[in-house]
Amino acid sequence: MSVILHLSDLHLGKDQPWERATDDKSGIVPQDENSRLAVMRTALSAVKQHIVTNELDLDAVVVGGDITTAHDEEGFKRFGALLDELKLADPDQIIAVPGNHDVARDSDPNTEAKYAQFLEHTRAAGIRTPFCDGVDTLEAADAKPVMELDDCVIVAVNSANWCGVGVRSSSGTEHRYDAARVSESQLEYLTDQLRDHETEGKVRIAALHHHLLPVTEDEETKPFESFTNLARLRAWISHHRFPPCCTAISTVR
Ligand SMILES: [Fe+2]
Repeated sequence: MSVILHLSDLHLGKDQPWERATDDKSGIVPQDENSRLAVMRTALSAVKQHIVTNELDLDAVVVGGDITTAHDEEGFKRFGALLDELKLADPDQIIAVPGNHDVARDSDPNTEAKYAQFLEHTRAAGIRTPFCDGVDTLEAADAKPVMELDDCVIVAVNSANWCGVGVRSSSGTEHRYDAARVSESQLEYLTDQLRDHETEGKVRIAALHHHLLPVTEDEETKPFESFTNLARLRAWISHHRFPPCCTAISTVR
């Protein structure tokens, strides 16, 4: 059975207040023990130790987005350094999808600028990444969104292309929203990619940052629900070799 490590919302970076990891409100715990980086290093070191002690083979690492906070480059650098330090898996065994915090919020959808920093610290390092609109096209794509293991197939999905999109209200005021959407180009590309992989009898896993279903007001209130089209992804999952046994890994914050 494949062993997959799923990480998400690491939110690494140097920007306060995100850098502090816990709810330590009094500041008693020293910063270097209480940062997200320190907590991730401790947790992943324990995971690594468990893997070694139990002689397990880690087949894949899936990073479900929000590696950093507010597109902070320092967070991407810390993520890379953490992977180098822990040596959990080869880059080719790692899938990373962008979260809303990983893309350039002020850049338009379908542009290289939207993904430049994310890809510099993931794809350029050999990590598998999804189809990024504006960088990848159906004719030319460096994306490697499909990882095939003995008993499962993992597909990386980009749902962050419209994060930070500007929407003008009737009063003329523009607000930026995190609209969770997938493009038809990406779905077409994934459909094409899956033709080259054996999926029959395997667990199919779609990895994306956002929830496929709208979050409830008990969880989070954000005015992007009316812009989402992830139901389109649900339809794709249902009809393109992702029958009901599909498992979706998604998170949002
Ligand atoms: Fe997020």
